[in-house]
Amino acid sequence: MTHHLDHPLLAAKITVLRDRNTGSARFRHTVRELAQLMVPAVTADFATESVPCETPLETTTGQRLARPIVLAPVLRAGLGMLEGFLSVLPDASVAHVGLARDERTLEPAAYYFRVPPNINQAEVILVDPMLATGGSAIEAIRQLRQAGAGSIRLVCLLAAPEGIAALEAACPDVPLFTAAIDRQLNNRGYILPGLGDAGDRIFGTN
Ligand code: PRP
Ligand code: URA
Repeated sequence: MTHHLDHPLLAAKITVLRDRNTGSARFRHTVRELAQLMVPAVTADFATESVPCETPLETTTGQRLARPIVLAPVLRAGLGMLEGFLSVLPDASVAHVGLARDERTLEPAAYYFRVPPNINQAEVILVDPMLATGGSAIEAIRQLRQAGAGSIRLVCLLAAPEGIAALEAACPDVPLFTAAIDRQLNNRGYILPGLGDAGDRIFGTN
């Protein structure tokens, strides 16, 4: 299931990212802001449990999240979104998934994988700004499942129709949350109109 988070603030910030004249510092800051703004929609169905709570005036019943949260950024570009998520989910643990797309075949090559031990009980939020062919997301989900993850959702900033179709076919139980759905991929697997190479623009390696 694809959730297109259609909101004026998200659309305006996505436009900042698309602009070729946006430098690394503003790009990185805007990715962080976008991620932070998406958290309420991404977590809206998380289960809560009742807890007693003493206010200065009386005892009431409050709520806390029922399950731990694991944030799983796909390296490198997912690290740009991680900070935004952690700013409002400071108790989350972090799983790192290192994948790099081969520029010729567009296949993801795995180079790092480390997850926290509670991943099997957690709500796992996989974060990567770009869903292009979908190959990296599908491989990340495969690795997370192999490590014991149950509930996984994917959050990206831009999604191509090709990547959405591939994800829905390979992982129909993984909901996708995206701030924009773009037109298509070009013949080098880049999203159009897109924003270019997210990792390069976040880390100034372009
Ligand atoms: C980018 C992006 C995704 C992947 C998307 O990463 O951050 O992980 O490409 O493409 P796909 O849907 O076709 O797999 P890249 O492999 O360029 O690595 P980087 O983040 O280190 O730049
Ligand atoms: N990865 C990116 O960083 N950008 C694209 O357009 C496609 C994949």
